[in-house]
Amino acid sequence: MDKFDVLVVGGGPAGYVAAIRAAQLGFKTACVDAFTRNGKASLGGTCLNVGCIPSKALLDSSERYEALLHDYDQHGITVADVKLDVAKMQARKDAVVDKLTGGIQYLFKKNKITGFHGLGKFVRREGDAWVVDAAGTEVAATHVIVATGSAPRQLPLAPFDGDLVVENEGALAFAEVPKRLGVIGSGVIGLELGSVWRRLGAQVTVLEALPAFLAAVDETVAKEAAREFKKQGLDIHLGVNISKVEQQGRVVVLTYAENGAEQTLTVDKLIVSIGRVPYTQNLGAEAVGLELTDRGFVKVDGHYKTNLPNVYGIGDVIGGAMLAHKAEDEGVAVAELIAGQAGHVNYDAIPWVIYTSPEIAWVGKTEQDLKAAGVPYKTGRFNFAANGRALGHGDPRGFVKVIAHAETDELLGVHIFGAGGSELLGEAVALMEFRASAEDLARTTHGHPTLSEVVKEAALAAIGRALHA
Ligand code: NAI
Repeated sequence: MDKFDVLVVGGGPAGYVAAIRAAQLGFKTACVDAFTRNGKASLGGTCLNVGCIPSKALLDSSERYEALLHDYDQHGITVADVKLDVAKMQARKDAVVDKLTGGIQYLFKKNKITGFHGLGKFVRREGDAWVVDAAGTEVAATHVIVATGSAPRQLPLAPFDGDLVVENEGALAFAEVPKRLGVIGSGVIGLELGSVWRRLGAQVTVLEALPAFLAAVDETVAKEAAREFKKQGLDIHLGVNISKVEQQGRVVVLTYAENGAEQTLTVDKLIVSIGRVPYTQNLGAEAVGLELTDRGFVKVDGHYKTNLPNVYGIGDVIGGAMLAHKAEDEGVAVAELIAGQAGHVNYDAIPWVIYTSPEIAWVGKTEQDLKAAGVPYKTGRFNFAANGRALGHGDPRGFVKVIAHAETDELLGVHIFGAGGSELLGEAVALMEFRASAEDLARTTHGHPTLSEVVKEAALAAIGRALHA
């Protein structure tokens, strides 16, 4: 039986990064992953195969299409006879995914990581090692890292059928633009994929159970985003209670209550995006007594240790923010902890991005968080409409809001609603990692003309020194 120092179960952003870092630290490392795409092993998990990466490819394609239809005219460019080839768009998306998943395979080879394609399952403890069934082959490992990720949450009323009722994977693979698209859940997936298909021509209706729109997002951003998405034609219904979802031939008919009145909605495709659940099936957790929380997550302590010796959990399967970058950083941290180093993730400085148009990006606390916690704060806001670069681009929508502690001036949160927000957020994350002040941000020279000047101006506004407002 082969013996490894570290065996990682799951090859998504948490698992493959943990494997690379463990190998870099000198451990004999293996990774077992079951993901299959187009009949072949495909590393990278949900994020690379059916999540972050393919969705961004389609977001970009659909934004270009919409820009051609509506935005070029303002630049004095007339575009005629615009055609949409969904098959070609999907093929480009697949090529992007192929390139990246192939890249992980290359990195495994480079770092001498043994890859197994199939399920990884705990079998027994033998001496000081774990015996794991890695895709049908028993291997021994001193340390096992569980990084098995998450799966889409099913709505019992509307089980996925891979055709009319789909999750993220199905919604990324429509062969043609549905005429009427229903979305259950106005979270990240609902808004991102709803936006993709709306831009390509679908009539999109979003049904959300909660009465508040984007409750976790800063209230000012959520309010302006709701207004903007409505203007774009996303038909979002809040506080609805869905009672029936029925397939009638090639359509899906939903019955729901809204403001006490019963409504029906008929759609050609339905995306159900109501969150994700930890994936621990087929792991053999019971066989070895691996403890799960009452919601099914692998239970870990602050150092990713489970109840079992030398067994760790990272990524979506342990809960917290279900974000690829949080999972990757946990992958690095756990490998370093196993090596006796001080691996650490700063959960107070995790960036969040919702890839709508414009993007919603933030780090740190929202104004409502601080109000609830009774923390004294001050805010500064600057609009993209007053920024030269944004006007040049022709997309001056949105703003940046900086929140700092009222007494110490420490940056507590930066919220961006604007084009390129995901990239602009980077400096705020880095500054918050170093516990910088709003004045530090305001006194940092930013290139001119750039969109990043909006971040600086919002920081200037927070310290009462706005120059251009
Ligand atoms: P989500 O948690 O973002 O949103 C789910 C929404 O569905 C919530 O607003 C919830 O109130 C609503 N909901 C729940 N039950 C409902 C019901 N019965 N009827 C109507 N509405 C209902 O989950 P989502 O969008 O499915 O995404 C899953 C995970 O994937 C998230 O945890 C997210 O972090 C991650 N993700 C992250 C992305 C990013 O960082 N840009 C992109 C896509 C996914």
